[in-house]
Amino acid sequence: MAITYNSQSRIFKLDTDHTTYLMGLTSEGYLGHIYYGPRMEHEAGTAPFRLPEFPSPSMLRREKIAFLAGFPFEYPTAGVGDYRESCLDVVGKDGAPGVELFFDSCSIEDGKPALEGLPASFAGDETAVKTLKIVLKDPVLGLRVTLLYSVFPAEDVITRSVLLENESPDALHVRRVLSMGMDMDNRDFEMMGLFGCWARERHPERISLHHGKQVLSSQRGVSSPQESPFMAILTPEATQTQGEVYGMSLVYSGNFEACADVSMYDSVRLVMGINPENFDWLLTPGSTFTAPEVVMTYSGSGLDRMTLSFHHFFRDHLIRNPYRGKLRPVLINNWEGTTFHFDEEKLYQIAKDAHGFGMDMFVMDDGWFGLRNDDDHGLGDWEVNENKLHGGLDALVRRVKALGMKFGIWIEPEMVNEDSDLYRAHPDWAIRLNGRDPSRGRNQLVLDVSRKEVRDHIMDQILKVFHGTSIDYVKWDMNRYLSDLESSSLPADRQGELSHRFVLGVYAMQQRLLDEMPGLLFENCSSGGARFDAGMLFYSPQIWTSDDTDAIERLKIQEGTAMVFPITTMGAHVSLCPNDQVGRTTPFETRANVALAGTFGYELVLSDLPDDERALIRKQIEHYHQFHMLNEEGDYYRLNSWSGDRLYDCWMVASPDKKEALVTYVQVLGRPNWRSTAIRLKGLDPDQLYTIRLVSGSVKKGPQHSSADQDMDKLFQTECRGDELMNIGLYIPALKDFESLLIHVYA
Ligand code: DGJ
Repeated sequence: MAITYNSQSRIFKLDTDHTTYLMGLTSEGYLGHIYYGPRMEHEAGTAPFRLPEFPSPSMLRREKIAFLAGFPFEYPTAGVGDYRESCLDVVGKDGAPGVELFFDSCSIEDGKPALEGLPASFAGDETAVKTLKIVLKDPVLGLRVTLLYSVFPAEDVITRSVLLENESPDALHVRRVLSMGMDMDNRDFEMMGLFGCWARERHPERISLHHGKQVLSSQRGVSSPQESPFMAILTPEATQTQGEVYGMSLVYSGNFEACADVSMYDSVRLVMGINPENFDWLLTPGSTFTAPEVVMTYSGSGLDRMTLSFHHFFRDHLIRNPYRGKLRPVLINNWEGTTFHFDEEKLYQIAKDAHGFGMDMFVMDDGWFGLRNDDDHGLGDWEVNENKLHGGLDALVRRVKALGMKFGIWIEPEMVNEDSDLYRAHPDWAIRLNGRDPSRGRNQLVLDVSRKEVRDHIMDQILKVFHGTSIDYVKWDMNRYLSDLESSSLPADRQGELSHRFVLGVYAMQQRLLDEMPGLLFENCSSGGARFDAGMLFYSPQIWTSDDTDAIERLKIQEGTAMVFPITTMGAHVSLCPNDQVGRTTPFETRANVALAGTFGYELVLSDLPDDERALIRKQIEHYHQFHMLNEEGDYYRLNSWSGDRLYDCWMVASPDKKEALVTYVQVLGRPNWRSTAIRLKGLDPDQLYTIRLVSGSVKKGPQHSSADQDMDKLFQTECRGDELMNIGLYIPALKDFESLLIHVYA
């Protein structure tokens, strides 16, 4: 049984294949956390809590505050004496704060319920997944709180979310409702987050926990590139392959908070959910509120295991798009090549050129609508600009399709430029503070898509264009953060709902797009990768990872992203050098080898490439066709990180049947007078005899002698057993700066 409740001991036990999660009730009905870690066959004994030290209120009423300050609450509440970070803070009719929750009932069901209006994982096989609902109540507020736990045994994942219901005759103000809490004893834990900014998204960052609160969060209205809605808590010895790791990922695309609060007793409280900052939800009598889902996993063998559990889970239980598990079209996108400066002939030539190299899809990026000839104008006016696309969009789509290519298009539905017909007609549709000059980002304002009439107007316009022709792929962009949070449609006591309502509005719009265009390949994007989160993956099977397409910068960005998300969810393109962001020149092969990890494409004008680079494109596309399904279904392992030793990056993907693997090695900094480096592979069959073949290598013949000057192919035409490759290693010859190798290992 994946979930049991022992009504004698009043202990809940949740089991996955390799982990166990335990909670228990005190005699008063407080729900406490007992354990999360390696699987245990037996439930906890009779004294799972430290009650003799801090007796619970029914045993020692005069010291209730000492109990509340130390008890390991499963879902901690604010205002009554637990001073650590809380999950729930509600204000009643008299304006005073304070929530206290007591057990009411519980039930265990097959499958997993959907969460209304929110992205959420699904069971697939309803019998393989079980859901526990624990109902807690605050009798004073008349508040019913249902904690939902769904157990996915094979993936070692437990998901959590929370449902609030106001059972009182009075309105309640919910000032904080997080999705999970968990209290554990500190084991010198460290915290891993994904830090960044535009063009430097999701760099892994690891710190030691100290007393007090360590918070990862966003208040930007999107999950943001600054911090990601992901947190891992690790024991200090944890590496890729050893040590304990607790991973948490929030299925949400807006403001979030993830906090580790280390108490005076050296316990660690972990919480995660919607950021309480700027949040205030009016819960009218009889109404409900659903908090987004957290995906939790525990690994007793380092980060690799955590990553694999997340990857398997997101692939099989979150991504719904029909392209999941399939080859994606190799695309050519015109953005870095033309920006806003194109007409239909220029675009057609780009597509034609790309088709000549075997590319499958042309994507027309920003600039095809309204008066969008730069980024100051036109957002909000979703009508084809026929001064640029003479003859209309359908004519261009037909020409491109006549080549045998698919057609993709860019949109940014959540935004408006003040210089647009939409803004002139509906200035009140923008989010802005009454009487203040609003902050602009890229000279645009954010549309209040919490309003149904705004959503309907924008989507009607966009879908009219799409239905007038034949679109295969949509890239949905979002290029500024939210600020000036006021909606002209919300009453004063509901303004605190705007940020969350905005996110729900975005989800509703994306769902409508998918409902009306069922076979669509959909890609999310936000100024590069500012909204790369599990919420977005529910709608699109791929997300643009970063506007930084420099192959070396991408290594860190893709390492951090792939720590949580399946690698083929990462939009990755080959672009021109010197690179736009950093001015670096990297070998064309390296740019392709790095992009091959994700959804593959080119973002340039092909005729700008030198002949020797153009000559490589067909082979690169062949590599994508050969290896995408391995990347899509295989197990990803991080073998080295250049952000650690500054020298080289290396990762691999092994097929589930262990019959083949693809190893990518990138030398960031070459070392003079160096010999080969042995890389220990992972995830292979120790007894299997493998052939090792160099697929692609960017190796310059240099004046300096190195093994790289030898015939590279010969170095890899060897056979090795899996145990040799995993214990002795695969020898990588000395390479020079930015050179890279793609190596196929197969039975
Ligand atoms: C930001 C995106 O990340 C780019 O790929 C491109 O689509 C531009 N916006 C277009 O404005």
